[in-house]
Amino acid sequence: MESKNSILVKLLLLLHYLSLFCASQDFDFFYFVQQWPGSFCDTEKSCCYPTSGKPNADFGIHGLWPNSNDGSFPSNCDPNNPFNPSQISDLTSSLESNWPTLACPSGDGMTFWSHEWTKHGTCSESVLKQHDYFEAALSLRQKANLLQALTTAGIQPNGGSYSLSSIKGAIKDAIGFTPFIECNVDSSGNSQLYQVYLCVNTSGSDFIDCSVFPRGKCGSNIEFPSF
Ligand SMILES: *[C@@H]1O[C@H](CO)[C@@H](O)[C@H](O)[C@H]1NC(C)=O
Repeated sequence: MESKNSILVKLLLLLHYLSLFCASQDFDFFYFVQQWPGSFCDTEKSCCYPTSGKPNADFGIHGLWPNSNDGSFPSNCDPNNPFNPSQISDLTSSLESNWPTLACPSGDGMTFWSHEWTKHGTCSESVLKQHDYFEAALSLRQKANLLQALTTAGIQPNGGSYSLSSIKGAIKDAIGFTPFIECNVDSSGNSQLYQVYLCVNTSGSDFIDCSVFPRGKCGSNIEFPSF
């Protein structure tokens, strides 16, 4: 006959495994979000170039965001794991060109990357440690060349207006997955191509079909401003 103590031990072990399981299952996929600098800057608020100079006229990384299939997302998951620049020193120059900050006042990017790590990265730390998190985002950026996808389809950052469906179609043709497009508005109130969301599996390595898209709506025709 089992003693009360051994039942208690088994129960505690079970709870322990359940908590481990939950810790590694608190998100279902990532949104990999890239932003068009021309649209970030072409607003009433405007922007500030980073201290390293004007970024390339290309999409830059905004972030890699753990998300749940019900549309919710975890944030600020581990106050004991702050951003540590020394862990990503080998990636700094690549981050400067591919993950540039445009916030004011001008900065070197550390504030932006630190914010992204603290708010989003800590919520996937069971899968990606700090260095791997930034490396994963950089590698996804190499796999998803949005500007090339769009220009190949004749969609150029020239201030012209393009249909939302042609933009989604061009990205789907080049990358293989339908993106979510987020718009913002310029100082005259025109809707423009601001951010592109692609879904990534929980390893942070491969694009997948999105199970859920963020909320928000663009016009059926949107501007693609120059930068
Ligand atoms: C993510 O996709 C890659 C390539 O298909 C695969 O090797 C990896 O196991 C996937 N990760 C998960 C958690 O499904």
